[in-house]
Amino acid sequence: MKRVAVLGSTGSVGRSTLEVVAGHPDRLQLAGVAARSRIDLLAGQVAQAQPPLVAVWDEPRAREFAELTGRRDVLAGPDGLLALATHPDVDLVVVATSGCDALLPLVRAIQAGKQIALASKELLVMAGSLIMRLVEEHGTTLVPVDSEHAAIFQCLRGVSREAVERLIITGSGGPLWGMPAAARQAVTREQVLAHPRWRMGPKITVDSATLMNKGLEVIEAQWLFGLPLERVRVLIHPEAVVHAVVELIDGTSLAQLAPCDMRLPIQYALSFPERWGSAWPRLALTQAGPLQFFEPDTAKFPCLQLALDAAAAGGTACAALNGANDVAVQAYLDGHLAFTEIPRVIAEVLDQHVPLAHPTLDEILAVDAWSRKAAHDRIPQWSPR
Ligand SMILES: NC(=O)c1ccc[n+]([C@@H]2O[C@H](COP(=O)([O-])OP(=O)(O)OC[C@H]3O[C@@H](n4cnc5c(N)ncnc54)[C@H](OP(=O)(O)O)[C@@H]3O)[C@@H](O)[C@H]2O)c1
Repeated sequence: MKRVAVLGSTGSVGRSTLEVVAGHPDRLQLAGVAARSRIDLLAGQVAQAQPPLVAVWDEPRAREFAELTGRRDVLAGPDGLLALATHPDVDLVVVATSGCDALLPLVRAIQAGKQIALASKELLVMAGSLIMRLVEEHGTTLVPVDSEHAAIFQCLRGVSREAVERLIITGSGGPLWGMPAAARQAVTREQVLAHPRWRMGPKITVDSATLMNKGLEVIEAQWLFGLPLERVRVLIHPEAVVHAVVELIDGTSLAQLAPCDMRLPIQYALSFPERWGSAWPRLALTQAGPLQFFEPDTAKFPCLQLALDAAAAGGTACAALNGANDVAVQAYLDGHLAFTEIPRVIAEVLDQHVPLAHPTLDEILAVDAWSRKAAHDRIPQWSPR
């Protein structure tokens, strides 16, 4: 029986994770859940699944949660998230929070020898070298939940590192892929948030519309699979049937195909190294095609180029990219920044940043804080929540 803690249980990935756990009562036990502030949703999850451990990041909301549910043992604030991630009664930690607050809990969970299922790509983008070094040092297993990386991870089973020529990360292109440049200037929030293939949280949906998401995924793949930038490629694949391709040195390509359903990569990460059955919809290959693949257009989608440039610069450049993007996207979602201004804010922050080559955790956190402030300074009259 694996005892699972879900950081970000009220989010899109978190809710799917609870479904997976509930579907395998003989193999998985929900040891704990954590959210930031949506306590009504969290209270419903706790009433239904009865996890012994509950953490709420926002301290006033933690007190409200305690009053609402009568629980006196709520783990509150940043220390609460840390306590849950490292608790002796937890075997596997699913990291599915938005933002970057879960970096320290992730680091400590790895150090405590927990198995990790990682959805929060931003943490690898800001601190990939440190996280992967700790995984190695502590002999922990970290399985990616992001569908493209889960696809690569599965294709690479039984394949030696030397046999890999290149990784191809596919992306549907998001809601704006086929839209002419002029129409994109006037794109509405509804259009940006209407992803054609996936139902996800707001931040990643905006990242999908700017194609920043693909850039973050290239950086994530570099760290997870230890390949240089020039051997990780992005292709736009609007049908979203093939989630990634691994090209091998003999000319063979291995691809992973699956329905667009996050429960699949989540279940694989929870079952690893086993593979369990499921009753979820199957891919209907006869109805899936024709399958198309296109080069991404970085002139139309400058955020992708900004991410590739940060990856090439290395060191703390990716942490600066990530912090600036987080703030720009939140300002957009709050109605204080135009969609087309998101890359401008990020580019200006990156222009000011001098990357540190081999940063410590404290240096990464300092660059994250600096880049958030630098981005915020470029967005007048806006106070983040
Ligand atoms: N959604 C997808 O299909 C998908 C696919 C691949 C990768 N990912 C990655 O997975 C992560 C989560 O995405 P999502 O779409 O599930 O986001 P989401 O729907 O916005 O949910 C975010 C979750 O994180 C929680 N959270 C945020 N800050 C927290 C903190 N400081 N302490 C505790 N909980 C905190 C939120 O709590 P509240 O509800 O209280 O705010 C919520 O439960 C992102 O990094 C995303 O890039 C998502």
